[in-house]
Amino acid sequence: MLIGLRDALDFAESRNCGIAAINTPTLELLLSAIRVAERYQVPLIVQHAQVHETVNAIEDIGPVMVELARRSSTGLVVHVDHGETVDYVERGFAVGFNSAMFDGSRLPYDDNVAQTRAVVEIATARGYGVEGELGVMPGREDGVESKGVADQALYTRPEDAAAFVAATGVTALACSFGTVHGLYKAVPKIDYELIRELRRAGGVPIVMHGGSGLSCDEYRSSIERGVRKINYYTYADKAGLDAARKVLDDQPDTHVFCDLTVAATKAIEANLDDLVRCLYRVV
Ligand code: 13P
Repeated sequence: MLIGLRDALDFAESRNCGIAAINTPTLELLLSAIRVAERYQVPLIVQHAQVHETVNAIEDIGPVMVELARRSSTGLVVHVDHGETVDYVERGFAVGFNSAMFDGSRLPYDDNVAQTRAVVEIATARGYGVEGELGVMPGREDGVESKGVADQALYTRPEDAAAFVAATGVTALACSFGTVHGLYKAVPKIDYELIRELRRAGGVPIVMHGGSGLSCDEYRSSIERGVRKINYYTYADKAGLDAARKVLDDQPDTHVFCDLTVAATKAIEANLDDLVRCLYRVV
């Protein structure tokens, strides 16, 4: 069934856990994410990032996401991830998405506030929650272009988080505290104390971007301090790629692409199973 962003975040708050927010630009990722959520009967967010328009357009994969979420036995949010224009968020809502992130973090501060505020107004009229972003997160959410380390100078300041949330009315806040999008090329320097301060100053749940590639301890320590939504993509898709490579190596005479997608789906599902057991403290 479809649930709202606030419902998912409330669940996380009441259980002191984190909600997995999985980028699902392909059917392999989407089916894996939903199967794992159903296996443990936990709420989960499936999301489509604007940078993944090159993989599948939101008008193509979006209706599939919405339909599978509607008929699921567990609660799923269908979320626009890193919408870079108000228009893109509206394209998501038009195909049935019920939650959105507006990413104005590369805009001048006042423009980020104004455009995020505009998205909040559109979403509120529909009863949907909105995630905003403040602070620059290195790398792109499509898993490439990351230097693999965060620049301490770009970490979000708690006083800025407080002002941004007050000015925009966002439901949750993505900010910079040491994680990066894409592959980690160095050990991430997560500032746990900063997470706690951002949560306190902003007064809303904190969203971790660049969530894949961390240890269970790192997730749980972040959750303890106020992270409630964990955005996750690169390492799940990499697990799929590694499995597909193995098929090519082990069975060089394979002649159908489906042999790769079947192996990839299994590997993605196993990767997400580990994540969900950690985030939701499944014993
Ligand atoms: P990773 O691809 O680094 O896991 O980040 C995903 C993300 O933050 C999507 O918004």
